[in-house]
Amino acid sequence: MELQKPNLMILPFLMMMYMPQANAQTSDDAKKLLDTLFSASGYNTAVRPTYEQTKPTNVSIDFFLVSIINFDSQKETLTTSGYLYISWTDYYLQWTPETYGNLTYIFIPQDNVWKPDISLLNGISEVKGLGSNSLFVRVDNAGTVYWLPFGIFESTCGIDITYFPFDIQTCDLTFNAWSYFNEHVNVTKGMMRNISLEMYKENSEWSIVDTSVDRLQGEVQIVFSIKLKRKPLFFVLNVIVPVMLLSILNICIFIIPAKSGEKASFSVTVFLALAVFLTMVTTLLPQNSENVSFIGIYLVITVVFSTVIVTLTLFILRLNFRDVDEDPIPSWLIKLHGIVIKIRCRRHTKVHPATQSQDEVSNFDTGYTVSSAEATSGFTESNSPSQDEKSKITWNHICNALDFIFFWIFLLATGITIVTVFSICIENAVQ
Ligand SMILES: *[C@@H]1O[C@H](CO)[C@@H](O)[C@H](O)[C@H]1NC(C)=O
Ligand SMILES: *[C@@H]1O[C@H](CO)[C@@H](O)[C@H](O)[C@H]1NC(C)=O
Ligand SMILES: *[C@@H]1O[C@H](CO)[C@@H](O)[C@H](O)[C@H]1NC(C)=O
Ligand SMILES: *[C@@H]1O[C@H](CO)[C@@H](O)[C@H](O)[C@H]1NC(C)=O
Repeated sequence: MELQKPNLMILPFLMMMYMPQANAQTSDDAKKLLDTLFSASGYNTAVRPTYEQTKPTNVSIDFFLVSIINFDSQKETLTTSGYLYISWTDYYLQWTPETYGNLTYIFIPQDNVWKPDISLLNGISEVKGLGSNSLFVRVDNAGTVYWLPFGIFESTCGIDITYFPFDIQTCDLTFNAWSYFNEHVNVTKGMMRNISLEMYKENSEWSIVDTSVDRLQGEVQIVFSIKLKRKPLFFVLNVIVPVMLLSILNICIFIIPAKSGEKASFSVTVFLALAVFLTMVTTLLPQNSENVSFIGIYLVITVVFSTVIVTLTLFILRLNFRDVDEDPIPSWLIKLHGIVIKIRCRRHTKVHPATQSQDEVSNFDTGYTVSSAEATSGFTESNSPSQDEKSKITWNHICNALDFIFFWIFLLATGITIVTVFSICIENAVQ
C-alpha cells in the first residue's frame, strides 16, 4: 500500500521519463501524429469522445490535497490548494505507436481536447473551469487522457462551534460535471480510497483527522470530505487561561477585609479587566448565532458571577459601616455568624488543638490570607468564641462571616462551572 501510493501520484511523470523506450521517435513523428489526430480527422472539442453517444463517458477523479490555506470560522469558508487527477478515455485519440516511431504518448494544451466541465459546486467564488490553457493534458496511445488541474479552492463549510476550541469540523469539496447528466458523464472515484495527503503540508491551526470520498448515487458529482480538528493551544493560552485566572481574582475579593477600604475598587477593577478582556476575546470567537459554544456560555457565566460578586461586595461594605446600636443585627445573621464560627473553629482545632497564635490565624484558612493585624480585628474572635460573644458581635463580624460564606460558595460555583464546561469540551475532542 505504502509503495503503491507514490507510484500513482507520479504516474504521469514516471511514464514521461521511462515509457518511451523507443528511441526512434522524432519530432516529425509527433507532428504527423498531431496532424492525423486533430486536422485530418476533424477533431471537435465539443463532441463527447465515445463512439456510441448513448453510453456515458467514464471520468475518474482523485483529489490531491496540498495545503489548507485558511479556514475562516466566521465566514465559514475553507480555502485549500490542491489538484485533481482526472482521467477518461478519448475514443478519437487512439493510435498505433508503431506507425509513429513507437510514440506512446503526447502532451496537448488542455483546451484542444474534449474535457468534462468539472467545477467546484460548493465554491464561493465565480464558477470557472479548472486549470488553464497553459496546462497540458497527457494522452497515451490507448486514448486515456490524464488531466491534473491545480487550483485554489474556496468552498463553503458549515461550522459547528459548540465545542470550540476543541471542535472537529467536516468540510466537503463537491465537484461535478456541470453541464452533463448521468447519461453523458459517469463521474467515478479514482484509484485512491480517500483524499491523497502525500503532497500535504501540515497546517498550524488545523490537523486532518480523516478524509473520505463519496460518489452520490444518481448525481454527476463526487464529494471529497476532510475531517479537521482544531489545534486548541492558541485559544487555551490566550483565552481560557486568562479568563480562569481573572475568575480566581474575582473570588479573592472576599479575602480583602472590609476595613481595608480596597474592596470596592478591587472588585470593580477586576470586573473591568474581565470586560475589556471579553471584548478582545469575542473577536477571536466564531460569530455564530445558530449554535452557542460552551466557551461562550462559560464567558457569560464568568461575567454574571463577576457582576454578582461586585454587587455583593458593595452590599457587604454598606453593612460594615452600620452601627450595632442604631441597626440591631437580625437574629438569622447572628445564627449565620455562629455557624461560620463553628465551621472555622472545628477545622482550626482539628489542626491546632492547643496553640492559637496570630500567625496561625492568617495561615489557617486556605482562602484567607489576611495580615495579622486584620486577623486580630476580623477573625481572631471567631477562633475564641466566648460566652458573652453575642453581645460583642458587630456588623464587621457579620461582614467577615458573609465574606467567608460567599468565598466558598463562589469558589465552588466557579470550580463546578470550569470542570463541567471543560469536561464536556475535552470529552468531545477525545472522541
Ligand atoms: C464505463 O464503465 C462501465 C463499467 O465499468 C463500462 O461498462 C462502460 O463500458 C464504460 N463506458 C465507456 C464509454 O467506456
Ligand atoms: C518500435 O519498437 C519495436 C519493439 O520495441 C521495434 O522492433 C521497432 O523497431 C521500433 N520501431 C521504430 C520505428 O523504432
Ligand atoms: C459508472 O461507473 C461505475 C464504476 O466504474 C460503474 O459501476 C457504473 O456501472 C457506471 N455507470 C454507467 C451508467 O455506466
Ligand atoms: C484512507 O482510507 C482508509 C480506509 O478507507 C483509512 O484506513 C485511512 O485512515 C484513510 N486515510 C486518511 C488519511 O484518511
